Amino acid sequence: MYTPILETERLILRPLCVEDAPAVFAWASDERVAKYMTYPKHETIDTTLEWLRSIDHSSDADYDFGFVEKVSGELIGSGGVYWETDRQQWRVGYNLRHQSWGKGYATEAAQEMIRFAKTELNAVKIGSCHAVKNPNSGRVLRNCGLVFHHYSTYQKFDGSATFRCKEYLWTKNGEELTHHKGTVTLKTERLTLRKFKKSDYKDIFTWASNPKVNRYVSYLPHKELADSEKIAGLWADEAKQMDSYNWAIEYEGRVIGNIDVVRHDNLWEAVMGWQIDAPFWNRGIMTEAATAVFDFLFCEVGFHRISAGHDTRNPASGKVMEKLGMKKEGLFPQYYYKKGARGTGDAQKYGILKEEWLDWKETEQERFYELC
Ligand SMILES: CC(C)(COP(=O)(O)OP(=O)(O)OC[C@H]1O[C@@H](n2cnc3c(N)ncnc32)[C@H](O)[C@@H]1OP(=O)(O)O)[C@@H](O)C(=O)NCCC(=O)NCCS
Repeated sequence: MYTPILETERLILRPLCVEDAPAVFAWASDERVAKYMTYPKHETIDTTLEWLRSIDHSSDADYDFGFVEKVSGELIGSGGVYWETDRQQWRVGYNLRHQSWGKGYATEAAQEMIRFAKTELNAVKIGSCHAVKNPNSGRVLRNCGLVFHHYSTYQKFDGSATFRCKEYLWTKNGEELTHHKGTVTLKTERLTLRKFKKSDYKDIFTWASNPKVNRYVSYLPHKELADSEKIAGLWADEAKQMDSYNWAIEYEGRVIGNIDVVRHDNLWEAVMGWQIDAPFWNRGIMTEAATAVFDFLFCEVGFHRISAGHDTRNPASGKVMEKLGMKKEGLFPQYYYKKGARGTGDAQKYGILKEEWLDWKETEQERFYELC
């Protein structure tokens, strides 16, 4: 298809031509604009002309647009959508002259190019990336409905610079972003995290009958083994579902607690809950279990964010959240009320995004290696 002319409220997106060379050269030779682009900064206008002449406007794989500001008639930037055979996806890119930054133009142009890719090119997958050191571009991608997918690197075409980047993705049906996998067995240094079995009820009773353990958890202490048998049966049944996540924490041959996704909504956010038996507190066990679970939920299942909350009278749980790199997100007064318990409790909520988790883990690992 010949590159079409598109229109937004403030912009005309049209094919580029050699007459655009002076305007394009003005930004392509500007270090502030070219810094994180894959093209090396244009040193002479000949480079710009060479590029403009090389554009094939009839290509079915590359659609390059110049962005014209309607009010001034000036060319203020360019971008395009490009087919990537190796990834079987469309890629969107853009750059704007410096004086047009901060006015929402990149978002406006990118949204229109993405609409074009979805409706005219029938795109089912659209990707893009931005250098970690260029976070504003990430805002544009999020404004366009793309979501962070993974960290990667990219190079300038001439190999003169390599950038760590965040890869973003949009897929038509949400596939490739998230896949439910169910409660898969996870091993850590000291623990086995696995599905619950009906036969776990005796171990469950040990901690579920201890009022110290469930003081700040929603259920009441189990009075008899039958209570634990019932919950073990329920959890073993739930474990058959691919969208259910509840791990038995097995330590030295017995189940000492659990870590679960209390609820999740359309694969975007997972809300966590956890508990272990009192004799095992303060040995780093829950932090170890949650680290493996967060890795799994973010990298294998594909949740975008994980959150958790604790009763402010139960600071140990908040400490686990902090040790996991989670950030405080708000205090909810009188959030917890439990029948038979004394008073109400305020909830301190914490959360972490997938990209923050991956960042945080890398920093922790660097710190760990430095200590070694
Ligand atoms: C909350 C709970 C899961 C923590 O498990 P854990 O295995 O002891 O956690 P970790 O050992 O990984 O980390 C606990 C941290 O809290 C700290 N801590 C313990 N008591 C604390 C207190 N009163 N104030 C502040 N920090 C405290 C510990 O020192 C430790 O931090 P450190 O490693 O920096 O020393 C466990 O106490 C528990 O099961 N409690 C009962 C159930 C419950 O409350 N669940 C959470 C509901 S939100």
